[in-house]
Amino acid sequence: MSAQPQATLAVLPLRLVDLDAVLLIEQQAYAHPWSHGNFVDSLAAGYEAWALWEGRGQQARLLGYFLAMQGVDEMHLLNITVQPAQQGRGLARLMLDELCARSRALGRLQIWLEVRESNARARQVYQRYGFAEVGLRRAYYPAGPGQREDAILMSLSLEEPAT
Ligand SMILES: CC(C)(COP(=O)(O)OP(=O)(O)OC[C@H]1O[C@@H](n2cnc3c(N)ncnc32)[C@H](O)[C@@H]1OP(=O)(O)O)[C@@H](O)C(=O)NCCC(=O)NCCS
Repeated sequence: MSAQPQATLAVLPLRLVDLDAVLLIEQQAYAHPWSHGNFVDSLAAGYEAWALWEGRGQQARLLGYFLAMQGVDEMHLLNITVQPAQQGRGLARLMLDELCARSRALGRLQIWLEVRESNARARQVYQRYGFAEVGLRRAYYPAGPGQREDAILMSLSLEEPAT
């Protein structure tokens, strides 16, 4: 029996040519997905935009992605998504590690995000990672015809605790 090479994971800058694969995942993962234009605008604006790949070259498979906007001192996570069949194997944690490393490198030591109040799974993932729920944004998200849903505002400090 020949040894199988370990599948390699890589986090690489998200490119326009990746958007077809991104949109496939986006549409599977959300009832209210971002549009192609939302991603194009985010790339044009120079937001932090990263893609998680498994494998190399022609065989490479997109597993997830995240996009974040830099503020003066902070980073605002706008989208983090894992392909549905790949959820629950630590890939969001891996991407959050990348986001934190990138934020630290840029001197942005506070991370903010909004999450739908009904998205219990994502709220749990963020809480386990160390985010705290710090506020509520009323009627922040579209939620079907004529309806809106509240967002929970969450935050994570990357400051080293004073010793
Ligand atoms: C939310 C999402 C990004 C999480 O991705 P994931 O790869 O499944 O998450 P992970 O496997 O990295 O899990 C991270 C942590 O949360 C825990 N967790 C994952 N799913 C959980 C669940 N359903 N209930 C409780 N804990 C859960 C994991 O155990 C892990 O904790 P640990 O590392 O301490 O063991 C993914 O489910 C997703 O893409 N959902 C659809 C899109 C979405 O809602 N994005 C967020 C918008 S704000």
